[in-house]
Order: sequence, then structure tokens, then C-alpha cells
Amino acid sequence: MQELLAAAREAHEAAYIPYSEYAVGAALRTADGAVYTGCNVENANYSNSLHAEEVALGSAVADGHRSFEALAVSSAARDGVTPCGMCRQSLSEFCGEEFPVVCDGEEPTTHRLGELLPDTITREHLDA
Ligand code: THU
Ligand code: ZN
Repeated sequence: MQELLAAAREAHEAAYIPYSEYAVGAALRTADGAVYTGCNVENANYSNSLHAEEVALGSAVADGHRSFEALAVSSAARDGVTPCGMCRQSLSEFCGEEFPVVCDGEEPTTHRLGELLPDTITREHLDA
């Protein structure tokens, strides 16, 4: 996990954040041990901004990965950053309730995805 956190910390340095000035980095480990990183990429149309976690997840999926072991997320301030609701939902498409999410901070904390996003909508809901 230390290695994944280090990758997330490094990833935040590439963040494109002219609007919020809040740099976020994410690192996602695949089931076969590869690590994909992402940073937030903002846009003058604020709602087009990409979140660090979705950039990491999108890169990994685009490379053919569908199975993941853990995610770490870090901010410039290491201020207790945590994935937003949208990113939690995006992760839940591929990752189960036990999936560990490491959030950087003065004392980094690890949470289960099921704790961060209980009762999430899944593909089963669409099978009605
Ligand atoms: N941000 C992320 O990259 N990931 C999250 O899940 C939380 C928010 C970014 C989006 C925006 O560029 C900045 O942090 C402030 O919200
Ligand atoms: Zn997000």
C-alpha cells in the first residue's frame, strides 16, 4: 500500500488545476500487479473536469484491465482527500465491497469501497 500511495502522491504533480488549484492524484493496482495513475484535469466548463480516479480507471480499462486490487488517492495538501461520490460509483462498476481505498492524509486511512458507498446501484438493478 505504501508503494501505491507513493504513486498517487507522484501523480498529483501532473494535475491541471487552473480553477480549483486543488491537485489530486490517484493510483490503481490491477489484479496482475500493474499500477495506473491519474490526476485531475480541469476545464473552463467546470463540469467537463476529469477526476484523478476516473483518469486512472479509464486508462486501466482502456488497456484491457477489468479486475483491480486497490486504489490510493492523494492531494497536494494531503488533507484527508477522499474519492467523491461519482468516483466511488465508477469504482463500484469494477470493484467489490471489500475493495480497499487508501486516502492520504496526516495519517493515511484505508476504507472498504462498501463502506464508502453502501447500497450502490449495480447492474443487477437494471435486470428487473
Ligand atoms: N477531484 C478529484 O480529482 N477526485 C475526486 O474524487 C474529488 C475531486 C478534483 C476535481 C476538481 O478538479 C478538484 O478536485 C476540486 O473538486
Ligand atoms: Zn471524483
